[in-house]
Amino acid sequence: MRRKVIAGNWKMNMLPNEAINFIDELAPIVKDTKHEVILCVPYTDLFYALLNVQETNIKIGAQNMHWEENGAYTGEVSGKMLKSIGVEYVIIGHSERRQYFAETDETVNKKIKSALAVELKPIVCVGETLEQRESGVTEQIITEQIEKAFEGISATELEKIIIAYEPIWAIGTGKTATKEDANTTIMQIRKKLAEMYGQNEANGVIIQYGGSVKSSNAKELFEMSDIDGGLVGGASLKAEEFSKIVNFDI
Ligand code: 13P
Repeated sequence: MRRKVIAGNWKMNMLPNEAINFIDELAPIVKDTKHEVILCVPYTDLFYALLNVQETNIKIGAQNMHWEENGAYTGEVSGKMLKSIGVEYVIIGHSERRQYFAETDETVNKKIKSALAVELKPIVCVGETLEQRESGVTEQIITEQIEKAFEGISATELEKIIIAYEPIWAIGTGKTATKEDANTTIMQIRKKLAEMYGQNEANGVIIQYGGSVKSSNAKELFEMSDIDGGLVGGASLKAEEFSKIVNFDI
């Protein structure tokens, strides 16, 4: 049985004092969960968050990284830098980065390789637009994203990667994919991984759903056969609401 992994993506929200207060409130109310809990916080919160999650079951991730270790890339932060302060996870290829910051499948691929090289665990995002879904090309788009993102990644490396399926039209819109649709697309992702790596390997990969996940729909989504938890945006900004998502089966 695959574990469930629930990750909050705070996006560009929360000052350090807010992050500290949030973790103080969240830690005691998620301490008994069977699931993995991750908070992906802004760079400026990372250090405070890492200090504050010590002796809790909460893990910390960043939301992006550069693929080079260092160099003349003003404003960028490398995987090596994240690793040096104790960050464990990093979101790669979020649709907002693809949409607003020219992230491509090629840069996603470079970032995954670079993250793995410093033992950061990537949370790799894929997803289709509304137009693509409506024109019936979701599977084609998703499998292309997977193929390109994972080019040159070995089966051993695959084990360290989480995939987040986030239909772009469901992000921040209040529109959630139906549990059946989300599960179907995630099964298509697994089928593609099976072609690339073998069925056993594909069966072991954690694939989350993201897009308007909240406490009222988490249980029905996460109980589906292939949905292994969620990547949660807006609903991860309130500790009590996020705790209910993490504790969806309590
Ligand atoms: P929302 O949960 O706010 O729709 O955001 C989803 C998301 O983009 C998580 O990465």
